[in-house]
This record gives sequence, C-alpha cells and structure tokens, in this order.
Amino acid sequence: MSITYKAAIVGCGGIARAHARGYADTGRCDLVACADIYQDSANSFSEQFGIPHVYTDYKEMMEQVRPDIVSVCTHHHLHHLITMELAAYQPKAIYCEKPMALTMTEANEMAEICQQNNVLLIIGHQRRYGAQYAAAKELLEQGKIGQLTQMESYGHPWTSLLVDGTHSIDLLRFYNNDIPVSWVLGQVDASGGSFRFGHPNEAASLAMFAFDNGVRATLTTGGFSKSHAPYPAPDAESLGSLVSPAGYHRIVLHGTTGRIEIDGDDVVNGQPIVRIHRGDEVEGFEIPFKSISSIERVITDLIQGLEEGKPHLLQAQSGRAALEVIVGIYQSAQERKIVYFPLAEEHNPLFELLKYQIQS
Ligand SMILES: NC(=O)c1ccc[n+]([C@@H]2O[C@H](COP(=O)([O-])OP(=O)(O)OC[C@H]3O[C@@H](n4cnc5c(N)ncnc54)[C@H](O)[C@@H]3O)[C@@H](O)[C@H]2O)c1
Repeated sequence: MSITYKAAIVGCGGIARAHARGYADTGRCDLVACADIYQDSANSFSEQFGIPHVYTDYKEMMEQVRPDIVSVCTHHHLHHLITMELAAYQPKAIYCEKPMALTMTEANEMAEICQQNNVLLIIGHQRRYGAQYAAAKELLEQGKIGQLTQMESYGHPWTSLLVDGTHSIDLLRFYNNDIPVSWVLGQVDASGGSFRFGHPNEAASLAMFAFDNGVRATLTTGGFSKSHAPYPAPDAESLGSLVSPAGYHRIVLHGTTGRIEIDGDDVVNGQPIVRIHRGDEVEGFEIPFKSISSIERVITDLIQGLEEGKPHLLQAQSGRAALEVIVGIYQSAQERKIVYFPLAEEHNPLFELLKYQIQS
C-alpha cells in the first residue's frame, strides 16, 4: 500500500496555491497545515483548500503537526531563515521556492543544515518539468541538432535576475546536463528597477557565461522598467513574442547541425512553440498542453526521491548553482571583469550596487 505524506505550506500567497494543487493532484499527500503571519491570509487559504490546521507561527505548526513535506512560499529574504528553522524539525523534505537564497553563504548553510538533518531540500525551478522545456530537452538528447555548442535566453522586458532570470539560468544548466559553470561576464543597470519579493532588483541585465565543457550561454533580462526607463514600454502586438508572455524564458539552443527554439511559457494557439531549424528546413512541434502541472510532477519526483533515493532534478545543489551564476553576474558588473567559479563571494554585490541593506 502506498504511503500518504503529511504536507504543510509556509506563506499562503500566490505560488502557495499552485503548491496546494500540486500536493492534492499527486494523490499521495494530505495538505494538513498552513502558516502565514497574516491570520486572514492563512484562513482564506485553508478555506480554499480545506486545510484543517491553521497557524500564524510556522514553528508552532512544525511542533504540533510534524509534517513530512513542507513548502516555503515566502519572499526571497525569508527563504534562508525559514528553511534553517524548519530543518531543525527534521521533516523528510523541504520544497523551497526560488531563488534558493540571496547570498551564497545563506545557500551553503541551507544545504548543510538539511544534509545534517537528513532533509531532502529542493528549490522551485519547476520549469524543467514544463512540457515545452522538457520536449526540447528530449529533442536535444535525441541528437536532433547534433552536439550542443551555445545557448541564448531572453527574459521578458519586466524581468530581473533573482525573480525570473533564476528560472532561465536553471533551464540553461538543465540543457547542458548540469555541468558546472566556469566563468561569467555580466553587466546590470542598477539605476533603479522594481521592488519585488522583498528586495529591490536591477532594471536590466546582460551576461555571457561558459560551462566546463566549453558550451557558452548568453542571457538578457529586463530593459523596460515601467517607472524608470526613459522610453515607453514596448508594444506587445508589434513586437510579438519578444515581449508577450510567450517570450518569457524564450530560449535558443545551438548545436553542430541545427538549432532548437523554445518560445517560452505560453502556448500560442495552434502555433508550434518548439522549432528545430536545420539549414533552410524548419520543423515545428505543437507541444500538447498537459493537465498534469509542473509542480505536481516536482512533488511526485520528490516522493520517488524519498522512497527510492533517486536524485531530484531540483535538488539544493542545482538551486545553489543557479544562484552562483546570478551572484557572479553582479560581482562581474561590480568589478568590470570576468569572474571565475567557484565564487568566493559571501554577500550579494547587487545590494551594494543598489546601496540596499537586506532586511531579515
Ligand atoms: N516557481 C515559480 O514559478 C514562482 C512563481 C511565483 C512566485 N514564486 C516565488 O514564490 C515565493 C512567494 O511568491 P508569491 O508570489 O507567492 O508571494 P505572495 O506575496 O503572494 O505570498 C507570500 C506570503 O508569505 C507570507 N509571509 C510573509 N512572511 C511570513 C512568515 N514569516 N511566515 C509565514 N508567512 C509569511 C505573506 O503574508 C504572504 O501571504 C517567492 O520566492 C517567489 O519568487 C515562484
């Protein structure tokens, strides 16, 4: 008989709802508790998903409910503190949202405490499980474009590295089989971006990085901050998928015999969202929408990891590696030179560039 796992969620906002549906859809989890500092947020969340135990203090929740799997769905500056405190209660697994943390020191401490307490820690880069991104990975593995040589990733004009770029970087690492990054060269516009998920962000970024196997990648995010850009925001209709939601995480993979283009998040009606180009030939793939959500698949794999010891695609080391690229870009922007990995940075140079003190 299959085991049912007790699940709980800390932070009852937007993404927590996708986690709640994900737990329910696996058919293997009982979402038994939730916690939010705002009683009203916790109450409405528990009503929506029929959650019996509601808390404003997640430590009290851990003490009383002892869940097996806990999601951390709070803003970025709280991922470290909350994961550290949850790990002390030794749940079987923690599913912490992206980005893993704000500094390498925080990420290292999170990975270490989870290892010491035998807690499986995963980070919420669920796009690896998204139908179009996974389909492109399969095509790559089938050798449809020969050997991977270069990758390009385009952020939506209102994106920033810690909020959105973290997903793009994770996908680029995924396509290159999680091979370590050797160096990064980056620039950011620190003249003023959005304040999102608990901290200010750069208004735009541009980076080039190289992997240990010689594959190179370029990445852009932002560039049209509504409040600061001197130019008007781009018009989605005239610029098409470069600025529409379909352009969110648009990726091009170059190989020795062709290239794969992935249009990004949104399925455009009747249009192929993954294309292979070989010379003048173009082969389009309409990736069927899957009713199973990416987050459900993340949790199903998490359970498999717990039961069979199979390494998870989103394990802490992978989340840490994505953060290292981001911190490397900020360091490179600060020092105006290539930054070689592994990084020695213990702080996050973005906040020095923006003259901002992290609040915890
Ligand atoms: N993986 C994805 O595709 C994806 C998508 C959206 C957001 N996210 C990430 O999810 C995280 C949360 O984003 P969101 O959009 O759900 O934010 P949100 O603001 O909607 O929700 C955050 C919730 O955390 C609660 N909270 C704050 N401090 C708390 C504490 N000490 N204890 C308990 N609860 C606390 C807030 O009251 C709020 O209800 C962020 O890290 C964000 O980057 C990921």
